[in-house]
Amino acid sequence: MSPFATRLIRWHDRHGRHDLPWQGTRDAYRIWLSEVMLQQTQVETVIPYYRRFLARFPNVRSLARASLDDVLVIWSGLGYYSRARNLHAAAQRVIASHRGRFPGKREALQALPGVGRTTAAAIAVFAYAAREAILDGNVKRVLARHFAVPGHAGEPRTEERLWKIAESQLPRRNVERYTQALMDLGASLCSRTRPACERCPVRASCAAYAKGNVEAYPRPRPRRPRPVRQTSLLLVLCDGEVLLEKRPPTGIWGGLWSLPECDSSEDVREHCERRWGAKPAHPESLPLLRHEFTHFTLDIAPVICRLKATPRMASEPGQVFLPPQEAARAAVPAPVKKLLTKLAGG
Ligand code: ADE
Repeated sequence: MSPFATRLIRWHDRHGRHDLPWQGTRDAYRIWLSEVMLQQTQVETVIPYYRRFLARFPNVRSLARASLDDVLVIWSGLGYYSRARNLHAAAQRVIASHRGRFPGKREALQALPGVGRTTAAAIAVFAYAAREAILDGNVKRVLARHFAVPGHAGEPRTEERLWKIAESQLPRRNVERYTQALMDLGASLCSRTRPACERCPVRASCAAYAKGNVEAYPRPRPRRPRPVRQTSLLLVLCDGEVLLEKRPPTGIWGGLWSLPECDSSEDVREHCERRWGAKPAHPESLPLLRHEFTHFTLDIAPVICRLKATPRMASEPGQVFLPPQEAARAAVPAPVKKLLTKLAGG
């Protein structure tokens, strides 16, 4: 075994995490769920979502049978909703094409929607004790530092090199312990800023540490500043109920329920007249809400519009009026939930 792997495993035995809710199981369904949730979200945030999800959908069959809406309700607030849509589609695929059993090979796992190479490898390792390398953001950082890999991690050439290193370091045995150790080191001591090198088990062989410039690896991806977009979200109130609209299946907040959106260049009263045939007497603006997406920032101007009932409000498909409290419990994105909770007096 490479000294790198030996030291990592020994460190993990003493200092790693051993009590995460998805550890100590060989159930591929549970491991898959945790790995998808952990793709873009930190462990502490994932834990309560993971527990709720499993309580509601304890196995792949129950998930495959559920409606996408029911899945999105449990997912709402966790963000990156394409993960929930892919999860649902993948569960149906496992039932239809694999007779309800997750495949054991990394390549077959990787063919499922929303499962990339690292997620597939992690499932194969943790559920089936396969010998596969992983390379998520944290692992890229650990390896780029330890082996002083130049270039930024998004570059194909750098990425290829990191995969080669990841594979070359894989021990013959104990791949599960090694993999968890690598993940934990990246999530703890080998942090992006101010890494705790003095406590690192692989400091002695770390090339970046030897050069004295650990934080220079991996080189940051050249980034353009995120553009800021503006929009208005309307809290359309009618007889004490608030209007929710279903978002189109793809794009931001795809498939979730949300508030009607009004372009910030358009007059809110005209917009209401055009859409529902009624104008709010006194639209009431609430404080701006900022929400960060991966590629842009959204500044949301919430406006309360109290409307008299009109025939055009009689439920079109994809529209529903609900008491604010109930609306806040629907499959809505986090900032919308915040607004609805406030409206409900919470
Ligand atoms: N990040 C991705 N997968 C993980 C896992 N299994 N445990 C902890 N953090 C992770």
